[in-house]
Order: sequence, then structure tokens, then C-alpha cells
Amino acid sequence: MLKERIPLGIICAMPEEIAALLGDMSAIKRQELAGREVLTGQLFGRPVAMIESGIGKVAAAMTATLLLDGLKCRAIVMSGVAGGIDPALAIGDLVVAQRLVQHDYGRLQADGVTPFRPGVPPFGPGRADFGYELPDDLVARIHAALDGFKLPSLPADLVGKDVRPPMIKIGTIVSGDQFINDEGARARLQSVFGAHAVEMEGAAVAQVAEAFGVPAIVIRSLSDLAGADSHLDFGKFVAAVAPTAAKVVERLVSVLD
Ligand code: ADE
Repeated sequence: MLKERIPLGIICAMPEEIAALLGDMSAIKRQELAGREVLTGQLFGRPVAMIESGIGKVAAAMTATLLLDGLKCRAIVMSGVAGGIDPALAIGDLVVAQRLVQHDYGRLQADGVTPFRPGVPPFGPGRADFGYELPDDLVARIHAALDGFKLPSLPADLVGKDVRPPMIKIGTIVSGDQFINDEGARARLQSVFGAHAVEMEGAAVAQVAEAFGVPAIVIRSLSDLAGADSHLDFGKFVAAVAPTAAKVVERLVSVLD
């Protein structure tokens, strides 16, 4: 099959995130696979298969497997929202993952979790290879594609007038099966992993993509800052920031051609 006819797999965890891409999709066909609705069609000039995974690492891993094994997708893009971890970032900013870590995989002792590579027994000294890194050439293409790109600002009635323009960080996203709603937990994810953002799926998708030998790009706009108010901010901002991630999907699909 010609490469341009092989679909790109798109995963979003939530309906708001799917909705942000759906308006740009055409020739949509719907089918059901393992209880999930699969949308196939054209998005930004390419054939895609898009699935709403649901929330969490298992749901995401299962969805990635359906796309890669069942539908033979050539790469995966995950698009959606995240909690900001780096204090330099604000709601409405966006992080593209150069590195993904499952922050809840490892050995839990009194002094915290020692991270390990998922699948490896969590015994003995920790090792440095617990993250999933994009290859250097792909990272370079992402930098080039985003050079000079301006994110849309959030509406002033939502964030006020005096906020700086939204920015893009290409950095570390950590994933785990918990919504982070605590300043101490946020600070720990920053100091242990050097994380810029946290969500609940991306590093599980990276694990599956690695097993199939295909790239996975995770793109997340910030709906909250993972602290004591993150549950309130999430509800307030999720629908407003999800389209920001969709804009960056449009900008980045070419790096996977
Ligand atoms: N997705 C969006 N915000 C999040 C948070 N605070 N923790 C985990 N996943 C998130």
C-alpha cells in the first residue's frame, strides 16, 4: 500500500478533544471495534483513523493497539489537554512531548517512587532509561515545523486582558492513572522527572508505539496547573484549550509523512 494511503492514527481521551478535530475531518465513516467508535476519513489532507480512547493508561494502550495492529496505522498522534507542571507555563500554553514517562510505574517506598521502564521488574537500583524519547531527527522536524508558529490566545473573558501570549514547550510529559490535584504532587513530578506537563495516557501510547516500531507524537494544551484548584480549572478551561492542541496537530502532521 502507498504510504500516503496508510492512515495516521489519532487518539483523544475525551469528547471535547475529539470535537476540536472533528470539524476539520471529511469523508467520515464510522465503525465499531472492541466497543469503541472508530472514525476514518481525511484530516489535514491525510487519511486518518481516530478513536476516543477514554481516560487512563490501559484505555489508551488498548486504543493504540487497535490502531496499530487492527487498522495498521503508520504512526500515532495523541491530542488533548494536560495539567501544567513547569511553573513557567500557564493555562492555554502547549507542550509537545519529546520525552514521555509513566510516573506511576516503579517501586514505591517511604521516600517515594523509584521509576523503572514499564515492563521491567522494579527491583534493584533504578535505571536512567525509564522514559520514551522521540528520535533526534523527529524532534528537529518538530522544532522546524513549529518555528514562528503562534498559538491562538484564550478569550479575554476567560483569562483576563493582561496575560502574555500562549507559548509552546517541546519537553517532558509524564502520564499516570491519577488526576493531579495537589501542589506537593505537582512539585514532585517536576523535581523527580523534570516534567513540563502531566496527563493520563501519553506514555502508555508511547510504550505501545515503541513495541510496533512506529512514532507517537503527544500534543497537549494546558487546561490547569495540577495544583489545589486543578479540578476547578479543568472544568472551566477544557473545552476552550482543546482547539489549541488541534491547531498544533494540523501544523505537525507533515513531520510524520
Ligand atoms: N489532564 C488535564 N489536567 C490533568 C491533571 N491535573 N492531572 C492529570 N491529567 C490531567
